Amino acid sequence: MVVLVTGANGQLGQSIQSIAHKYPTIQFVYTDFQEMDITNFENCQSVFATHKPQFCINTAAYTAVDKAESEPEKAHLINAVGPENLAKVCKENNTILLHISTDFIFDGTSKIPYLESDVPNPKSVYGQTKLDGEIAIQNNWDKHFIVRTSWVYSQFANNFMKTMLRLASERDSLSVVNDQIGTPTNAVDLAEVLLKIIQSCHAELVSASPNNFGVYNFSNEGICSWYDFAKEIFNQKSIAINLSPIPTESYPTPATRPAYSVLDKTKIKAVFRIEIQDWKDSLKGCLKQLN
Ligand SMILES: NC(=O)c1ccc[n+]([C@@H]2O[C@H](COP(=O)([O-])OP(=O)(O)OC[C@H]3O[C@@H](n4cnc5c(N)ncnc54)[C@H](OP(=O)(O)O)[C@@H]3O)[C@@H](O)[C@H]2O)c1
Repeated sequence: MVVLVTGANGQLGQSIQSIAHKYPTIQFVYTDFQEMDITNFENCQSVFATHKPQFCINTAAYTAVDKAESEPEKAHLINAVGPENLAKVCKENNTILLHISTDFIFDGTSKIPYLESDVPNPKSVYGQTKLDGEIAIQNNWDKHFIVRTSWVYSQFANNFMKTMLRLASERDSLSVVNDQIGTPTNAVDLAEVLLKIIQSCHAELVSASPNNFGVYNFSNEGICSWYDFAKEIFNQKSIAINLSPIPTESYPTPATRPAYSVLDKTKIKAVFRIEIQDWKDSLKGCLKQLN
């Protein structure tokens, strides 16, 4: 079974690479911008013709949430046109597409966890381009899984956890917003789920039973604010720092973020029969890896 991974040098791409050894029946083809630019349709066609993947995991994205406000065309090209290209090339090759989307497609006005069926209403350029990417896939190729996730961190690349650890080494005190509520996601847990979906889908293909294509939510279990997340990182690392909770208005950013973006994971747990780790336990594992 050949699985082609786009954006393989990013944090989710590297997380997939870090667990690939546990899936010996899968032959992974890792590509990033240099090998396959998802915004270049002919480039995608030629890479697919060479490797003939049965599955494609699209982790490639424009993820600079604030910068996207001043680079909307670039963000749209990578987050919307890129997925559209992949959907079309997957259709040409009968390849199943797994695509990653975000909690930022929601406006954050809910008080209860978002379901896959809730109506998106992005408040940022990044969120809008990610929603456009979802729609482009849905309009072009049925055989897809769109996995929406939130607050992704890992031992790889840049993310909130690594920023907190760096800032703690430079400062004695830190202020972090405590009125944005969500759930952290260890990228390695997300990687495991994506590969479980592929395995389960492959088994279904063999048995010719129906596949469960569509949209799924995935994050770790639990609910917290960015302040809680930072506090837990420092607690687990026994870092003494003066940490203060602040409201969003005291930390203005170019992009508006949802005040509440907890995702309901009932569907993914039921369909793929998975258990999900609590975010604090998964953080423990990640910090251990970092050591
Ligand atoms: N990070 C989060 O908190 C978060 C939250 C929710 C959802 N997500 C979604 O999760 C997915 C994975 O995110 P991540 O954190 O792993 O992102 P990431 O670390 O930014 O990785 C994205 C990768 O895609 C590459 N890339 C950019 N443009 C490309 C192109 N045209 N063709 C091929 N590759 C290209 C990037 O290369 P360069 O670095 O050279 O640009 C980078 O290696 C994304 O879909 C993201 O929207 C992330």
